[in-house]
Amino acid sequence: MKDNIAVVGLQWGDEGKGKVVDLLASDMDIIARCQGGANAGHTVIVGDKKYVLHLIPSGIIHQEKICYIGNGVVLDPFGLLEELRILDKESIDYKGRLFVSASANLVLPYHKLLDQIYEERRGGAPLGTTLRGIGPAYRDKVARCGIRLSDIFDDKILLEKLNDIKTLRAQIFEPYQDDERCDYDAVFDKVCSIREAFAPMLTNVSSEMHRLDAEGKKILFEGAQGALLDVDHGTYPYATSSNTTVGGILTGLGIGPRMVGTVVGVVKAYCTRVGAGPFPTELTEETGELLREKGGEYGATTGRPRRTGWLDLVALQHACRINGVDQLAITKLDVLDSFETIRVCLSYRIDSELVDTFPVDPYALEKVEPVYRDFPGWKSDTSSITRFGHLPQEAQNYIRFIADETGTEIKLVSTGAARAETILV
Ligand code: GDP
Ligand code: IMO
Ligand code: MG
Repeated sequence: MKDNIAVVGLQWGDEGKGKVVDLLASDMDIIARCQGGANAGHTVIVGDKKYVLHLIPSGIIHQEKICYIGNGVVLDPFGLLEELRILDKESIDYKGRLFVSASANLVLPYHKLLDQIYEERRGGAPLGTTLRGIGPAYRDKVARCGIRLSDIFDDKILLEKLNDIKTLRAQIFEPYQDDERCDYDAVFDKVCSIREAFAPMLTNVSSEMHRLDAEGKKILFEGAQGALLDVDHGTYPYATSSNTTVGGILTGLGIGPRMVGTVVGVVKAYCTRVGAGPFPTELTEETGELLREKGGEYGATTGRPRRTGWLDLVALQHACRINGVDQLAITKLDVLDSFETIRVCLSYRIDSELVDTFPVDPYALEKVEPVYRDFPGWKSDTSSITRFGHLPQEAQNYIRFIADETGTEIKLVSTGAARAETILV
């Protein structure tokens, strides 16, 4: 099997992929993002520095690694340039080691306005998107009226495409005449102004992946969001607009399945979700609040408080299957350190029937009554432990149970946000 690694989220995002990617990247040569956009917020802590990356692969912090953004990503070019300015401030030199697919679809200002309009028009049931224009940009991509990065270098193509969009969207933008985000002349000028910055980053990511793989370079594929936000396999319509599972890596970079290598799934020792949608094990009272406070569960992109709950094995098994997960990276174990009892959902009761597969009908999830197994807590500090055998027996049992139930190996256990707070198994 290839030495390449795919790192994917197994819940509703924010599992700690940024930390895991940063950690595993030290043994890899290349880090590639394949889907999603600036809706992602991947946190990497190095010493006393904290980096929150939205579009740039988390491997960029390692000064010698080469990073790619694939065609499957919807790229907010202005957002990317802002992120680069943060790297400049931190003296992280990215020149010659960050490349972007020429066929990535762009997120332009009018996509953000559309995201807001669609949310408002959903009335009482907005999705709680990140308002980063993700859904509208993927919508344009699939409707074949998106603007791709390569288009921005040709005035004629860019103008033609913007004109088509102007016609298509005339009605919906009618009440927003004064909003700069749907002023197409302003968008044209803004896009033209970034040509120079993007020209050296433009590349054919698919052919680069094949060349690098053939040269024996080790590639880490960095997933964004998580399996339960996958547009096909997640809690649709309360999902994002991309395939957040392994399939998204293949189409989002233009590679075949054999290039992927080992699939590492990242899972929190409990569950969180930002935005609306079903969450069977959600805790809305004191315990949920405690998880949020101990885990610092506030969105890395939007700052919104994250909803919290116990680990859901029905959902986790589903996530492992649809990704073909080989190994788990279990994060934020330390957040459970002070709990007397830790609960894990083993099956669902739906209309008084016991169900142990994740329902295909997402509306059934609204009716779920979780069936729990209780584990005794370990009630001690795990944050400085670096060996699995040194963890309290109760914590070892908890982790082994998760591995057994999902039929996976444990790759690592994270007990804090810092690089050193990790148990490599
Ligand atoms: P991502 O989107 O999957 O990369 O995750 P986020 O960065 O959005 O959220 C994870 C948060 O948990 C970040 O603030 C991390 O610094 C933090 N974190 C990661 N691993 C651990 C851990 O093991 N313990 C604790 N306490 N925090 C962690
Ligand atoms: P990372 O990569 C957590 C959620 C939003 C919303 C839904 C749709 O940091 O794990 P979108 O803006 O994508 O149209 O919003 O998806 N969402 C995330 N939640 N982590 C993320 O990324 C997310 N990206 C999108 O909160 O519920
Ligand atoms: Mg995040």
